[in-house]
Amino acid sequence: MILITGALGYIGSHTIIELAKLNYEIIALDNLSNSKLSQLSILEKIVSKKITFFKGDIRDKNFLESLFKSHNISAVIHFAGLKAVGESVINPLKYFDNNIGGTINLLQVMNKNNCNKIVFSSSATVYGDLNIPPFKENSSLRSNNPYGLSKITLEKILEDLAASDSKWIFASLRYFNPIGAHSSGLIGDDPLGKPNNIMPFIVKVALKKIKTLEIFGNDYDTPDGTGIRDYIHVEDIAQGHIRALEYIEKYSSSITVNLGTGKGCSVLNLVKTFSNVNSVKVPYVFAPRRNGDIASSYADTSLATQILNWKPLHNIERMCLDTWKWARTHYNLKK
Ligand code: NAD
Ligand code: WQD
Repeated sequence: MILITGALGYIGSHTIIELAKLNYEIIALDNLSNSKLSQLSILEKIVSKKITFFKGDIRDKNFLESLFKSHNISAVIHFAGLKAVGESVINPLKYFDNNIGGTINLLQVMNKNNCNKIVFSSSATVYGDLNIPPFKENSSLRSNNPYGLSKITLEKILEDLAASDSKWIFASLRYFNPIGAHSSGLIGDDPLGKPNNIMPFIVKVALKKIKTLEIFGNDYDTPDGTGIRDYIHVEDIAQGHIRALEYIEKYSSSITVNLGTGKGCSVLNLVKTFSNVNSVKVPYVFAPRRNGDIASSYADTSLATQILNWKPLHNIERMCLDTWKWARTHYNLKK
């Protein structure tokens, strides 16, 4: 049985669908700090089966102990974490407590219950502003904010654990910029409160809930002056977890792998593509650069291709189409 933490969040819920399709036995947990319980019944509808779910916090050892005692958990896919970079700068302890403290708690309970396989949500943020893209897994790492520090620290903790005892096997997956939504149009990126990432902003502007999109910086050293990122469809990210889980189960060997497309897309190109494929207006203005942003980030994907035999299947057009399909259903808009 596989335990999924942060199961009702954006990436966790898409991964559950893929796991359920392959008939993995799963148990899901989430503290609902950035998701809603209503997501569970939508997921059950998509996969046409019941999902065992527990509301609880990875910082609560008694809760985790009871889960491990009552279920035969062989591996964990660990999504639970806070992810707002700006908030982490304002409240670093919240991020260290939740992301680092919570994960250490989880690892301790796993260890006590002889469960030593974990797939961990890392991030391209670990490359910081030190490197020139495409970023390769063996590039130097640097944290530019407490969120990034939490990911670098957790990757290192997993490496040290595996070095200390060969029964520990991990897959640290460094996601680039996940966007898009499930092809059913039933689930998508629905953060509680003010969005942090670009796609939820584009959606709100297209829905006229926000007047204009601010494009942060048009004076970068990039072809159109706006920032370049490696946007990747969330369904491809979900598939990457299946391949990583299969890999660690088959080879009992730890890995750190980029999950990106290897292609950079500028903010302006993303906005124009969204607008064109969906025939909606996304008014924008150029605003000053956002603090902490880098000009360009995209992955070297050769390791993922080589060891996971994984390749993303969806292009930017599809990411934009699926996002809007979900947003229209979600906000009950008729086209
Ligand atoms: P999300 O916020 O949608 O999902 C995370 C889920 O974890 C939420 O449902 C939240 O309620 C839950 N959670 C948070 N703290 C918890 C705790 N202490 N105990 C139990 N549940 C808790 O985020 P996401 O986009 O699905 O991201 C999943 C993981 O991937 C996170 O660790 C994030 O840092 C990482 N990541 C995300 C992105 C991205 O752009 N979405 C990129 C790189 C890495
Ligand atoms: C993308 C591009 C912005 C909003 C963050 C985290 C990273 C990872 C993914 C978790 C940039 C521009 C954005 C807006 C804009 N998350 N932008 N107007 O910053 O690449 O990465 O999310 O691990 O760690 O740092 O993603 O979606 O915020 O921004 O112009 O209103 O869109 O400047 O070029 P980012 P993002």
